[in-house]
Amino acid sequence: MNNITKEIERLKKEKNAVILAHYYTTGDVQALADYVGDSYYLAKVAQRTDADIVVFCGVAFMGESAKILNPEKTVLMPDLSANCAMAHMAQAETVMAMREQYDDLAVVCYINSTSELKCCSDVCVTSSNAVKIVRELPNKNIFFIPDENLGRFVAEQVPEKNIILNKGCCPIHAAITAAQIAAAKEEHPNALVLTHPECVKEVLSLSDFIGSTADILRFAENSDCSEFIVCTEDGVSYPLELLNPGKKFYFAAQPFCCADMKLNTPEKILHVLETGENEITVDEDKRRKALVPLDRMLEMAK
Ligand code: 13P
Ligand code: SF4
Repeated sequence: MNNITKEIERLKKEKNAVILAHYYTTGDVQALADYVGDSYYLAKVAQRTDADIVVFCGVAFMGESAKILNPEKTVLMPDLSANCAMAHMAQAETVMAMREQYDDLAVVCYINSTSELKCCSDVCVTSSNAVKIVRELPNKNIFFIPDENLGRFVAEQVPEKNIILNKGCCPIHAAITAAQIAAAKEEHPNALVLTHPECVKEVLSLSDFIGSTADILRFAENSDCSEFIVCTEDGVSYPLELLNPGKKFYFAAQPFCCADMKLNTPEKILHVLETGENEITVDEDKRRKALVPLDRMLEMAK
């Protein structure tokens, strides 16, 4: 154990803190974390934890969601500038205009969104529960924000709904092309293609499995196949390789990296634990409004 790790462990005990990390953070951050997972899993952990301090290694919407779900806790983020570009790619005004147009509209908000967008939504989803939740909603008309690609993927799985898409995307996932997948398949003809639904439809259509980061990990672990082409952020290589020592993972694009997720480092974790800096605060009125769709997600996804 190096000195930073030792000091983090000591401070965690002294301050009753836990560290949560998304699979897109670096391996050294994931190795330090008490809980590592996809957005859905981390939201559940944040809601239930009895620690006094949550250090959230992810991007802004994740720390905010943790605070919204569990306001009694102190939520710290190693780097306050870690943000998700897609979280800002829908407008509350567009949501209001859409509500005027459809009487029975349900606004379904991918958790990768600002708390302002959550405030004007009916239910949140993550990539691991979006299909189930949309299918179970009583509404016929659904406005899916902010991710067009996840929205389209859900629409294909739930054809009985009228799903209206919004022009937002993850710049990292949306940059992968079908040509890159075709080239990777030619190089590794025995590999299965595992893809996150934030990728474009041409990439999804060349994939053998589509799912959240946790779904991709589960699929790779349970598969008899020993080679995989992975279409999601390269932070997942850490758990993929840890859990599957005999299997090979190739990333469809190089680099396949969310620079914001990589702003989380062991040094910054230590710094916030020492100082209590970078605390996440959410205005109480906004928190109560944003809690409604998040709570509904946790209830419906059970
Ligand atoms: P999941 O881990 O929920 O699949 O989300 C992917 C993502 O883009 C998080 O920012
Ligand atoms: Fe946002 Fe994409 Fe980074 Fe996920 S990978 S945090 S969706 S920018």
